[in-house]
Amino acid sequence: MTHMRPLIAGNWKMNGTGAALDEAKALAAALKAEPAAARVALCPPATLIERLARAVEGSAVEVGGQECHAEASGAFTGDVSAAMLADAGAGLVILGHSERRALHGETDADVAAKVEAALAAGLEPVICVGETLQQREAGEAVAVVQAQVAGSLPKSLNGKDFAVAYEPVWAIGTGLTPTVEQIEEVHRAVRAAMVARLGEAGRAAPILYGGSVKPSNAAEILKTPEVGGALVGGASLKAGDFLGIIRAA
Ligand code: PGA
Repeated sequence: MTHMRPLIAGNWKMNGTGAALDEAKALAAALKAEPAAARVALCPPATLIERLARAVEGSAVEVGGQECHAEASGAFTGDVSAAMLADAGAGLVILGHSERRALHGETDADVAAKVEAALAAGLEPVICVGETLQQREAGEAVAVVQAQVAGSLPKSLNGKDFAVAYEPVWAIGTGLTPTVEQIEEVHRAVRAAMVARLGEAGRAAPILYGGSVKPSNAAEILKTPEVGGALVGGASLKAGDFLGIIRAA
């Protein structure tokens, strides 16, 4: 069980234009009025990072990217490097999200290379793992996430700030969530894989849960042993909903 401050990170995915900055400002103002027990981060689309970082400047809201390229620069049309995210005001970056793995063919080795790039740029990576419904039904959930941890976490994470996020693919955006027993089982397995990979350093980083976290289920999930925070998609788009989750931590 970790004892550090939980991290509640919002993943806006491909949602939000300038008008969405009002939600970020409302969140920042609410956290100024009543500071949160948890660390809070918003990961907007790359186009909004700089504006969002300015909009929440001086508040407790941290800013992150959703993805980065493994190379620092070069002929990679359409891609964004970790240094560019940092330059725009990001302090964190989500890597290996299941949507990237499924829709962009990212492998564990690709994710590990991106983690190295993030660390080189001074970003705190939030590395996602999670099984599909088919894998869970086949009894493979633990083996799948442990293999993803082993393959996606480079040894250079030792001594660095990072988080792992367990996001069952079947729980993302579906309204379905695992039982707290299932969450605890996988989080303990993720922790064991982190320690196997990184030694003692694998004990310190928080393991976030992600997948249909909302104000109504956040408290129960966040008090589960080995849950060190949440990665929140849909419910992070509205400041009120996201605050409901943050206040539960
Ligand atoms: P969700 O997404 O909260 O909308 O289920 C979580 C995620 O994909 O990080």
